[in-house]
Amino acid sequence: MTSTNKKKLIAGNWKMNGSLAANAALIDGLKAGMSHPACDVALCVPSVYLAQVQQLCAGTAMHLGVQDLSTHVQGAYTGEVSAAMVKDFGVRYAIVGHSECRQYHGETDELVAKKAQAALAAGITPIVCVGETLTQREAGQTEEVVKRQLAAVIHTNGHCISEIVLAYEPVWAIGTGQTATPEQAQAVHALLRVQLRAASSQAERIQIVYGGSMNAANASALLAQTDIDGGLIGGASLKAADFLSIISAASELSV
Ligand code: 13P
Repeated sequence: MTSTNKKKLIAGNWKMNGSLAANAALIDGLKAGMSHPACDVALCVPSVYLAQVQQLCAGTAMHLGVQDLSTHVQGAYTGEVSAAMVKDFGVRYAIVGHSECRQYHGETDELVAKKAQAALAAGITPIVCVGETLTQREAGQTEEVVKRQLAAVIHTNGHCISEIVLAYEPVWAIGTGQTATPEQAQAVHALLRVQLRAASSQAERIQIVYGGSMNAANASALLAQTDIDGGLIGGASLKAADFLSIISAASELSV
């Protein structure tokens, strides 16, 4: 039972993985094992596969998502993909500010906030990622870092903040097999909830999801926490059986 009484969201982040054949096999496996999940489900796929995944997921409970977006509407921005373009493929979610984009593309808090704004303007739900590095955690800076990252998004998006999904992804837990304990994750989610409450009267309905080595074995314990409203899943979203187990765990806890 969650105190916030809302549906959980399980979103797969395929990152830069997949092929036409592998995607078809994965989605076949997901369709075979999924009936009517009580949670929200999304697949955030590389943009080149949107047409394929849109077609394969039509009529299922799986919503489509992307992993990044341009802040620009259109024009001379070589290599970028706009919110309107992905919206054409029925995209419902866009991850913004993933730590891999912050790290490898030098994305600032302000840029991430603008990406969230571009998504919202196109009617796409941004999944805004925040999270501290191991060095920052060990220096006792976790709270300061995640609050700063979220503050930029609140500053730029004002009352529209109630339309986002927030993802807490501690950088040290991503792809490392070193999951945050349920208590560690809950502690940060609770801080983020307090910050959202100060910005929006709708804060209780904002889904705050956890990402970082979530898998079939640890999902239930994480998802049972009061302020953990779902998961953003990397590696385990590429294996149908594992992703389906996480969806089942979330469905049992969804209201
Ligand atoms: P892993 O589940 O592979 O740790 O990745 C988490 C993540 O970065 C999801 O966005």
